[in-house]
Amino acid sequence: METEWQLKGRCISMSKMAGQKTVLQEYDRYISGLFAPEDDALRSAREEMLRASMPEINVSASEGKLLHLLARAIGAERILEIGTLGGYSTIWLARALPPQGKLISLEIDARYAEIARRNLKSADLAKKVQVRIGPALESLSQLEAENEGPFDLVFIDADKDGYVNYLRRAMPLLREGGLVLGDNTLPDAVLDSAAESGTKRYNAEVSARPDLISILVPVLRSRGIDGLLISIKQTPAPKA
Ligand code: SAH
Ligand code: DHB
Ligand code: MG
Repeated sequence: METEWQLKGRCISMSKMAGQKTVLQEYDRYISGLFAPEDDALRSAREEMLRASMPEINVSASEGKLLHLLARAIGAERILEIGTLGGYSTIWLARALPPQGKLISLEIDARYAEIARRNLKSADLAKKVQVRIGPALESLSQLEAENEGPFDLVFIDADKDGYVNYLRRAMPLLREGGLVLGDNTLPDAVLDSAAESGTKRYNAEVSARPDLISILVPVLRSRGIDGLLISIKQTPAPKA
């Protein structure tokens, strides 16, 4: 029987097979080439992020398209994003909105938020998107106090140790039938039952909540496999 570590070893050797480009990158390039080609606004958003020496931790084009598709599938008109960076995932999500739609994105770093605003303006999305600067937990409390809910979709993608608290604080702001999407939810730490990780704690919390129906979907990343945890908010069935 293959152990988890042997499986991981096989992945690593598969990645080496294709020389410079990993096999995973080749699969992802095939998918995004067909289904998630970038236009000028997305390309230039990434270029601006590189120019500003921001970390290259935005979603991939194919994952961006998946976010877009999920937002479209539920007819999302109000989206909440936690973790803006340069606004790359924000562009994919905001493009799913109808003309009157709105997206609020939370970012702790004022310099990142400024670059994101510029990128969103270049993408013609400035009217639909508001970037709020501050620690996400504080911004979430403000949103509640300002009655900014309900949202149709929440995308959680900020500091991983904050995920569980972001979920708890965001749930009251989400409509019934709305989606919660958690990025980076298949970390290497899932291969080691003793390893701690913020997104592993998030996965455990989500799986245990009766008001969420969920599945963790693997996504391809250039650095390996990661995951998007997709949840629908539901009214828990009454106890018999
Ligand atoms: N969603 C983006 C990537 C976000 S990276 C994309 O895919 O394009 C994570 C972001 O969360 C970083 O910009 C980081 O500054 C921000 N962040 C980290 N801790 C935060 C906090 N406590 N509150 C709000 N944002 C935070
Ligand atoms: C990384 C990727 C992410 O999507 C993120 O939100 C944070 C970090 C990474 O690859 O390190
Ligand atoms: Mg992420």
